Amino acid sequence: MNDVLPAQIAAWQHLEGTVRDLLTDYGYEEIRVPIVEHTELFKRAIGEFTDVVEKEMYTFTDQGGESLTLRPEATAGVMRAAISNGMLRGARHKLWCIGPMFRHERPQKGRYRQFYQVNVEAIGFPGPDVDAELMAMTARLWRRLGIERVKLNINSLGTPEARRVYREKLVAYFRGHEARLDSDSKRRLEGNPLRILDSKNPEMQEIIAAAPLLTDHLDPESREHFDTLCNTLQDIGVAYEVNPRLVRGLDYYTRTVFEWTTDALGAQDAVCSGGRYDGLIAQLGGESTPGVGFAMGVERAVELLVQAQRVPPAAAADVYVVVNGARATAAGPGLVERLRDGLPQVRFELNLGGGNFKTQFRRADRSGAALALIIGDDELARGVVAMKPLRQEASQTECPIAALPAGVEAALALASRRQG
Ligand code: HAM
Repeated sequence: MNDVLPAQIAAWQHLEGTVRDLLTDYGYEEIRVPIVEHTELFKRAIGEFTDVVEKEMYTFTDQGGESLTLRPEATAGVMRAAISNGMLRGARHKLWCIGPMFRHERPQKGRYRQFYQVNVEAIGFPGPDVDAELMAMTARLWRRLGIERVKLNINSLGTPEARRVYREKLVAYFRGHEARLDSDSKRRLEGNPLRILDSKNPEMQEIIAAAPLLTDHLDPESREHFDTLCNTLQDIGVAYEVNPRLVRGLDYYTRTVFEWTTDALGAQDAVCSGGRYDGLIAQLGGESTPGVGFAMGVERAVELLVQAQRVPPAAAADVYVVVNGARATAAGPGLVERLRDGLPQVRFELNLGGGNFKTQFRRADRSGAALALIIGDDELARGVVAMKPLRQEASQTECPIAALPAGVEAALALASRRQG
């Protein structure tokens, strides 16, 4: 599990702010759901034979004897919230949330046991138009962030019925090659044979390449849904590749699945992935409502931002307030609070914890401020404060306390302009 340190926060906040604005532009509303849910919810939603449920959940029994789990993903919890708060009844919702997810995976670069997701869900929309819009929205997100090394892969998993037929064919095919399957794939053959197609084992690639394709077994409605999606993407100008082996690791998907991958992060190449889950809400006991959504891995997207050198500079102070002498140290806090009242758009940093003049100026320099405001006993006695631009050669000036805050505002404007 990761600490996000102050030095990394500028990237995180830039990403979060950009995502929030974008989602608001597209009409999505924020929802906040609990981190802990009943274990049963994830078993039913994600599927008993998935890696997530079989091996990766942080599950514990609470004081009341109930089995609870730290959410490994957000879709199940958001659907539970929509059902238990009576949000369905034919209504449509475009929802998003951000927060930590927990999976007990083997940690490596880009893969953590606690990681953040931006999770987006559109419920009540059956057509491929919303699928396409979600992809166009993500493409726009990369453009706004200046992230270029990402590619969109799409596929259709068809309806559960079509998949059942395909699954039988696939199992028969892999049984015919059982001796060449690795142990993971042998295990998956019983519970989740489609996941074999996802195997990264190089020795499995040849058998996988010759396996029957789900895209050749789609039901006519799913075929039409997928064709319309492809046409819409072309029309919008979102580049994509059809990847018939894209299956996803969670069981609730039907029809459209998609994944944004990158070649910039090594093995953990999925930055953002999702798909349609038309059966999930009914499966969880809600009235049958279609849904589609995706989640973006925040750590991975932040890493792409850093690599692309698109992180804005961290916010610095504008004015550093130096205090010199006993009276000035006592008067400083009140004076600075009044300046903050008068100039709410200006960032003041008051020197705290003492220090001689030289130390305080060193701190002022490191703060990034453009202007130092000097409150000294001598100045106070004369009813003035001194001001010194920090980023260029310019002499110290004085401003009557009675002329604050306008005097500081003018000096700061001058100091910042010269600096720029
Ligand atoms: P997922 O593919 O399991 O989908 O995860 C979505 C994204 O979360 C991945 O593409 C990846 O960027 C990030 N991610 C997953 N595991 C880790 C990890 N251990 N460390 C760092 N990042 C990780 C879902 O979770 C679905 N609920 C998405 C969805 C929403 N489908 C429909 N609606």
